[in-house]
Amino acid sequence: MSSELIVNRVPESTNNSLRAWSAADELLISHLNETKTESVLIYNDAFGYLSAHAQPRKVFGALDAKSQEKATLENFATNSLDSENFVSTSLLSEMTEKLEMGMMKIPKSLELFELFLSHFVKNASKNATLLCGFMTRNFTKHLLEIAEEYFEEVEQSLSKKKARLLVLKNPKKVSVKSMIKSIPFGDEELKQYFGVFSSNHIDYATQFLIENLEPPEVVNSALDLASGNGVLAKEIQKKFPESELFLVDDSQLAVESSKLNLKGENISFFHNNNLEDIASNSLDYVVSNPPFHVEYEIDISLPLRLFRAVEKKLVNEGKFQLVANSHLNYKPHLEKIFKRVSVVFDNDKFVVYSCYKRWDKNQEW
Ligand SMILES: C[S@@+](CC[C@H](N)C(=O)[O-])C[C@H]1O[C@@H](n2cnc3c(N)ncnc32)[C@H](O)[C@@H]1O
Repeated sequence: MSSELIVNRVPESTNNSLRAWSAADELLISHLNETKTESVLIYNDAFGYLSAHAQPRKVFGALDAKSQEKATLENFATNSLDSENFVSTSLLSEMTEKLEMGMMKIPKSLELFELFLSHFVKNASKNATLLCGFMTRNFTKHLLEIAEEYFEEVEQSLSKKKARLLVLKNPKKVSVKSMIKSIPFGDEELKQYFGVFSSNHIDYATQFLIENLEPPEVVNSALDLASGNGVLAKEIQKKFPESELFLVDDSQLAVESSKLNLKGENISFFHNNNLEDIASNSLDYVVSNPPFHVEYEIDISLPLRLFRAVEKKLVNEGKFQLVANSHLNYKPHLEKIFKRVSVVFDNDKFVVYSCYKRWDKNQEW
């Protein structure tokens, strides 16, 4: 396939220095082009560069993030590529056919790397090869240790433009290992799949938000935005057991984790990277520890887009509480979107904000 494909970041970023691929992706494609494979299983393809450049091969996209799937399909359309050649595949179910070739941009999370390897060995033929690309500055020896648990042969390519590949051959017959962890929190244990945010303890920023939650008096409907394992939704459920709860997260593994932690009748889980599944002017309360990274890159346009969507989904008296790292300085941005913004808590690391869609003198402050 020609190297002249146009691959954009989707949604667009306001930071023009961020690209939709790296030298690791280019190296992966040049190695793939040395093979005769007609189909390939692809992991962690941020904006679809790998899937697009793998054409006309059949691509099975085992993508955790809804945003990755959407970006891939949009970039296929931009380049008039056949979308029938892209088949979305769940990381949590087994495929019907065994593949000989896989390709992965190594994720930042080592646990997610392991979950991908475990998925690949279950769905690959016995002589299969998995090409894993990374920027050399992100290398750690743990990658090799994990890879050796799953493959007989683990080799590294030469580096090109500061990128390198792990070439993994001959999957081992590994015994089934649980990809779910338990995290103690208060008197409870939360469960989450490998690769879901903050895997050893409940994130400290999230804990600050929980300590500083100031919900409106009446909460009939609430959203945990970017819900991860659902820890914030669980707090809302404790305070308002009758309320209707919505959880939205871009990661399928996160959404499936939150389903393990929240039980009840009035709960809706959405695997999505925006709020299109939620009615406008319908939410009394929204809570979030919002994302601001795409892997190693900070991209502030991501949370700002979500904040604008929250404003539309709140009822007029609705309230949004979020926690953020202090250095992100969200206040001026939030003030452009919400009528009133107050700092409920701050220290040298974190800030908890309360944002009001409307504000009048009778409303709490
Ligand atoms: C900082 S974590 C917070 C997770 C959880 N609320 C907690 O406190 O542990 C941010 C979450 O945002 C999710 N995420 C990233 N981009 C998103 C988007 N566009 N829409 C919804 N969720 C997104 C990530 O998958 C991750 O689970």
